[in-house]
Amino acid sequence: MKLQKIAWCSYSTQLLNAAVHALSSHNSSNSSSPASVVATIPYYRLYKTQTEFFRSLDYRFEGDTSSFLNISEAGKVIEFVTSPNNPDGKLNKAVLHGPNASAIYDRVYYWPHFTAIPNPADDDLMLFSLSKLTGHAGSRFGWAVIKNESVYQKMTEYMSSSSMGVSRDAQLRALKLINVVLETRGKQIFEFGYHTMRNRWESLSKILSLSNRFSLQKLGPRYCTYFQKIRGPSPAYAWVKCEREEDTDCYEVLKAANITGRSGSQFSAPDRYVRLSLIRSQDDFDILIQRLTQLVSEERQQQNHANNFLQLKKPLMSTLRRGLVY
Ligand SMILES: Cc1ncc(COP(=O)(O)O)c(C=O)c1O
Repeated sequence: MKLQKIAWCSYSTQLLNAAVHALSSHNSSNSSSPASVVATIPYYRLYKTQTEFFRSLDYRFEGDTSSFLNISEAGKVIEFVTSPNNPDGKLNKAVLHGPNASAIYDRVYYWPHFTAIPNPADDDLMLFSLSKLTGHAGSRFGWAVIKNESVYQKMTEYMSSSSMGVSRDAQLRALKLINVVLETRGKQIFEFGYHTMRNRWESLSKILSLSNRFSLQKLGPRYCTYFQKIRGPSPAYAWVKCEREEDTDCYEVLKAANITGRSGSQFSAPDRYVRLSLIRSQDDFDILIQRLTQLVSEERQQQNHANNFLQLKKPLMSTLRRGLVY
């Protein structure tokens, strides 16, 4: 691994725009047009809303990465790569390569409780957050690992102009928390976190496997270099799809059963999808499971009624058919 610089920040959300700012102005002397900022659908909404909010002359949000696959004619392109992805937990990789392309690796979920760690993260610009490491989202503390010195300088300049430094209280809290994590080299928190998330994923998968109406994203087991064994999926979110043709608004379908998720369009995906959070309190999760169980058992009852009706109809139909033939 190359020598890297670490920039910390009051919250990792602030780092998103700091990184876009730094990469769009990096080596920009030979380009007058704004850099295009892209992400692969489904993507975390703030990449778009934040990039658009600042209305910079240096960059512009251009949507899905796939429209930039042929980047030789495009100007500078900055790709957000979320790995594991929010909402679907996939270990995404940059799809744009070449001299005009740079990637911001959002690695806030790259911890052994949410994913197998196939290898140590070693990308040029990576973002992390305390909120997804220890759950202390309210402390608003994040950090970036950056290889390029001038990108690092631009990001720190952005942060000092926008917030005049990071709260010392938040830094002390983060330091204490990280020291506690390191006391057991992460073993205690990651073992606990992994088993909790794994159990939640298994409970949810078991219920939805009984349904034809709803399906879940497919995640397979992988070798984890941290646990040094193959382990099953344990994502932070379930990316649920409503399979019935008429269920075009999956958010509303679940809402009617008292289950509140985030609709697909919040991730620039079709509304046939909904994200359910698996990182809420145990009580919230238990209620989610209870309501989903109810919903799936109603679906199965309806299915049984329909099957019984068909079974009853069969002799009736054959009698009628016979009646017609004779
Ligand atoms: C993909 C992704 N990046 C960044 C963040 C922001 O993290 P923070 O709470 O530290 O601002 C989140 C929070 O949900 C996220 O899902």
